[in-house]
Amino acid sequence: MEKNNMDNLWQEAQKIAQKAYAPYSNFRVGAALLCEDGTIITGVNVENRSYGLSVCAERNAIFSAVARGYMRFKAIAISTPDSVEPVGPCGACRQVIGEFMLGDAPVRFAGSGSNQVNTTVGELLPFDSLHELKNK
Ligand code: THU
Repeated sequence: MEKNNMDNLWQEAQKIAQKAYAPYSNFRVGAALLCEDGTIITGVNVENRSYGLSVCAERNAIFSAVARGYMRFKAIAISTPDSVEPVGPCGACRQVIGEFMLGDAPVRFAGSGSNQVNTTVGELLPFDSLHELKNK
């Protein structure tokens, strides 16, 4: 993954986070996915007054990408502008990310501060047998 591609993806995640619907938590999240053909698909968290119905940005991005015919993603960036420090994806999102991304795919997440986490899908979800199968 070229640094430029990841920086670009990160900018898209930051931009889309502004569109989050998060009036209950006031914690906006934006996610940007890089598809194999270079297309970027984004998502935001969308909350509900019935709190449990809220859906995370990562899953919204992935589900809308799948509906548009994309199923393999090269990288994901996640922006949480309402935290200074980076906040990583929740466990449920890690599982969904693992369904569509290989273990060596880069993941970047950061808050509004200068600390940025650059990791991989495999680090977020270790011992995921699907990754091993897909890598073969
Ligand atoms: N949230 C995400 O969108 N992604 C994450 O990885 C962590 C949590 C959302 C869910 C909820 O709308 C808000 O952040 C606070 O938890």
